[in-house]
Amino acid sequence: MKSELESLIDEIKSCRKCTLHLTKKNYVPGEGNENAQIMFIGEAPGREEDEQGRPFVGNAGKLLTALIERKLGLARKDVYIANILKCRPPNNRDPMEHEVDACFPYLLRQIEIIKPDVIVCLGRHSAKTIFEHFEIPFRNISRDRGKVHVKNTDFGKISFVATYHPAAALYKPAYREIIESDFEKISGLIKRKNLTLSDFI
Ligand code: URA
Repeated sequence: MKSELESLIDEIKSCRKCTLHLTKKNYVPGEGNENAQIMFIGEAPGREEDEQGRPFVGNAGKLLTALIERKLGLARKDVYIANILKCRPPNNRDPMEHEVDACFPYLLRQIEIIKPDVIVCLGRHSAKTIFEHFEIPFRNISRDRGKVHVKNTDFGKISFVATYHPAAALYKPAYREIIESDFEKISGLIKRKNLTLSDFI
């Protein structure tokens, strides 16, 4: 039998709520661990993601994966990765308000099912949408990144953090250090499981 998350992903893959489904190649619902402690939320699929139907698999995704592994000591399969929009906007233009309004309920249902302890917003569009929904003050990404906001939500207690979008670090190397320092802070929010002898055998 399908899990609730798998059924939701099937539903996303037949979405017709906005016109982006007409121009996309593939839906990009999100992927990862259904029991993830930490969820990363980007803006929208880019060209590579649209081709593969998977989030963050292009150059920005390679950087995100490296940060997850090196700074958090986790594998991609341990976390959940999704976007505000599940379809690529033409030529990677910014998401429109009515597209976000149409798509956001899917993300909320993903959060409800996964119940992460930590949500990391990647970039200003993600941060603005998520922070506004969860009533966290947001003015701009430069001012509001790197701060931890702990909120009691309908889906349990969640720590929210925003950082620059990894794509920003690809064209502005100074951002890379800032993202890395934000990931060090995020690392402190993760509960490490106690390793037992059986983990090594
Ligand atoms: N940028 C995003 O915001 N999301 C992706 O999945 C890829 C690039």
